[in-house]
Amino acid sequence: MIMDGNGRWAQQRGQPRLAGHEAGSETVRCVLNYCRDAGVKYLTLYAFSTENWSRSEDEVSGLMALLGNFIRHYERELIKRKVRLRVIGRREDLSGHLLAALERLERESSGFERQLIVALSYSGRSELVRAARLIAEKVRAGVLLPEEIGETTITEHLYAPDVPDPDLIIRTSGEMRISNFLLWQCAYSEFYVTPVLWPDFREREFKDALDAYAARDRRYGGVRQECGQEVER
Ligand code: IPE
Ligand code: IPE
Ligand code: MG
Repeated sequence: MIMDGNGRWAQQRGQPRLAGHEAGSETVRCVLNYCRDAGVKYLTLYAFSTENWSRSEDEVSGLMALLGNFIRHYERELIKRKVRLRVIGRREDLSGHLLAALERLERESSGFERQLIVALSYSGRSELVRAARLIAEKVRAGVLLPEEIGETTITEHLYAPDVPDPDLIIRTSGEMRISNFLLWQCAYSEFYVTPVLWPDFREREFKDALDAYAARDRRYGGVRQECGQEVER
């Protein structure tokens, strides 16, 4: 989920942008419930992009504080619900306090099956640059031959290599762009954009997105699936 539109939501109410982010964090709680009820196994939330560091210091520090609060208030709940937390992104950009809290929760929840992946200081391009460097180091060390590099090699060097590609990417607030989210993983994801702003995204909108997804015909470059016929891949 590309959680977009917090700023506009606040602006429409004559409130500071941070009020929109606060309202947006309430949507996150709700969405976690909808996903649990719908049996979603992996949910990735785009919480902060590397490009978002260019926002005002007030907004950035407010967002980071909000994240810290969210983790503090929600960590027991996540453990109780048996949800595994994972962070993808440039961990080195995060403050020591926030990172320590996130990594503690990652360790404590590591045995659970259902996963909440939070993209923090995330950029799809940086993720691929990092993968390229890790692969190059292996080639230099002589443990990998260039001709052995394939698509799975790239996948294996992403932040969360074992997490499957997203089936559905939902973006709120009407923007028809990917904004550097999961560039490698989105190759065959279905895309759903709703004009609803993230703080207003509730169960009706979530269900609409799942219904739209269910009606899609995923062809993966093959031909339309007919009755009793396999999709050609
Ligand atoms: C999404 O809302 C939250 C983050 C990017 C952190 P925005 O803050 O981008 O809201 P708009 O797009 O300005 O309305
Ligand atoms: C994408 O939203 C990033 C997150 C939701 C964290 P942005 O608001 O940063 O994206 P742009 O600037 O509209 O592309
Ligand atoms: Mg935005």
